[in-house]
Amino acid sequence: MKKILAIAAATLIAASALVGCSGKSDSGKPGAEGKKTIKVGVALYKFDDTFISTVRKAIEEEAAAIKGKDGVEISLNFTDGQGQQASQNDQIDTFITQKYDVLAVNMVDRTAASVIIDKAKQAGIPVVFFNREPVKEDMAKWEKLFYVGAKAEESGSMQGQMIADYWKKTPDADKNKDGKIQYVMLEGEPGHQDAILRTQFSIKALDESGIKTEKLAGDTGNWQRSQGQEKMSAWLSSFGDKIEVVFANNDDMALGAIEALKGAGYYTGSKYIPVVGVDATAPALDSLKDNKLYGTVLNDAKNQGKSILNIAYALAKNEDATKAVEGVTEGKYKWVPYQPVTKENADKMK
Ligand code: GAL
Ligand code: CA
Repeated sequence: MKKILAIAAATLIAASALVGCSGKSDSGKPGAEGKKTIKVGVALYKFDDTFISTVRKAIEEEAAAIKGKDGVEISLNFTDGQGQQASQNDQIDTFITQKYDVLAVNMVDRTAASVIIDKAKQAGIPVVFFNREPVKEDMAKWEKLFYVGAKAEESGSMQGQMIADYWKKTPDADKNKDGKIQYVMLEGEPGHQDAILRTQFSIKALDESGIKTEKLAGDTGNWQRSQGQEKMSAWLSSFGDKIEVVFANNDDMALGAIEALKGAGYYTGSKYIPVVGVDATAPALDSLKDNKLYGTVLNDAKNQGKSILNIAYALAKNEDATKAVEGVTEGKYKWVPYQPVTKENADKMK
């Protein structure tokens, strides 16, 4: 009996020592008996981004769903990196000092993840990255690192296919009758995987369907509507009616381009050129229904938010996140599929 007690005591001491250095709070394993609140620090690259705001909303909704289902309180603290990696690093330091259970990180600079990873690992706090993908070598640094996102090349190909369909069914689309698509490309933030790959794969899809293209201009609009509008106005001044298609790496920039086109007299009479974006944000869906935006691609914020939070929840409970969430590949990646959206199926997107 005494021996059993002694072993039990020793185990307890060892366990509490482990807890002490794992960065977990003293109340023990979160989500299990005892502790009822899980603290998740969510570092957003910036608050002022239409798509990221929808991911935030999805994370909040999933936390409410988990509370309803399991009775576990998930306290979410969102921080605004304001596009500054140094600010985001400070915000993450605070989460670590305050012994948060898990971090969900939307990097400002996706190549700067290793500093954050080293600190989190040291403190024993798992990290779920999302939307801005750290490089492979960084993701390989620890087994408690995950990434939730979507395959950017997929969204680019879908944009290209939509334009290929339009081109084939619209004889007037080729305004100068040279058999080629003269296009302009509004790119997202330089260095962002979605900007690079959407730019590349949209055109690749046209090549693959045997359609010739000619790039008139391309430039970054940093995901922003106002910059999309500015760039497009400038291109309309230099190229005018020579532009036959507008590709935008996201919907906000596409909507900016549409403003510029309106200003140049498009959408009245038969003056029209197709503009395609990515995200399927609410204003983009409205624009589709209003015959302005030609097409977009659903960047599934709901399922991304759901996956981010469920992986975080599993990690906080010290469970195997690859079992808790379906479809995790390479032990750390959760890819949420894209979906093409045109006027025909826009209603199904809600
Ligand atoms: C992309 C999205 C953009 C922007 C960006 C931020 O996936 O399409 O609209 O939100 O993420 O990282
Ligand atoms: Ca042409």
